[in-house]
Amino acid sequence: MVKTETAALPRHIAIIMDGNGRWAKRRLLPRQAGHRAGLTAARRIIESCVRLHISALTLFAFSSENWQRPQWEVGNLMGLLMKALEDEVRELHANNVRLRFIGALDAFSPDLRHGMHRAAELTALNAGLALNIAASYGGRWDIVQAAHKLAAAAVSGHIRPDEIDEVCLSQALVLPELPDPDLFIRTGGEQRISNFLLWNLAYTELYFTDSLWPDFDEPALQTALDWYAVRQRRFGRTPEQVKEEAGA
Ligand code: FPP
Repeated sequence: MVKTETAALPRHIAIIMDGNGRWAKRRLLPRQAGHRAGLTAARRIIESCVRLHISALTLFAFSSENWQRPQWEVGNLMGLLMKALEDEVRELHANNVRLRFIGALDAFSPDLRHGMHRAAELTALNAGLALNIAASYGGRWDIVQAAHKLAAAAVSGHIRPDEIDEVCLSQALVLPELPDPDLFIRTGGEQRISNFLLWNLAYTELYFTDSLWPDFDEPALQTALDWYAVRQRRFGRTPEQVKEEAGA
């Protein structure tokens, strides 16, 4: 149900971590060094979200389209994902983080899939930050896989086509139980959504910064949170209606 609220701290933050390559280029380093620095930045922001008691954080680590990058870069990113799984999962678990990978995970190697599955299983009952890593993910893919589920349910007689509504489509997406992101952050200066969480971002506040992802630190996150805190979220209502409700 759509509801009006005065923004304070977002419950769910979604981030496109862009700018690793440019960060490395400016330092005359290989792109891989930028991605490594990007992983350090991701760790920092996850720690900040745990400290701030944010309920959910979704990071776009690898899009459906990123498979088209040069093979060596895809290989480097896969190596980094594997290393992150090996090095970080224990600490995330110790911090009560529930880790999950969302996307077309069949595209990954059996080793990576196994690591992702084990990490999700280990942390499944944690009640702290829900951390979603979008990998081989695309917002259109997500809507299509939801449509497949609903079509199968209709064919098997579990649902009538005219019963399909926004609620059941949301439930068939890969993040059924989380609230939609309140705040979307994209670093790296581009102002687009790039096929991230297309359905879920319908009413999200969109924040763009020129900061390159490896430079994005806790003060930069705080700037985004301060910006968010003064947004008036109207969900289609008038400013007067929102003010009236807030005063009620
Ligand atoms: C975009 O920067 C970044 C990526 C495609 C990869 C993001 C991956 C990480 C930050 C490291 C892994 C993180 C986790 C959480 C496992 P770009 O390469 O497009 O940069 P550019 O636009 O400057 O070239």
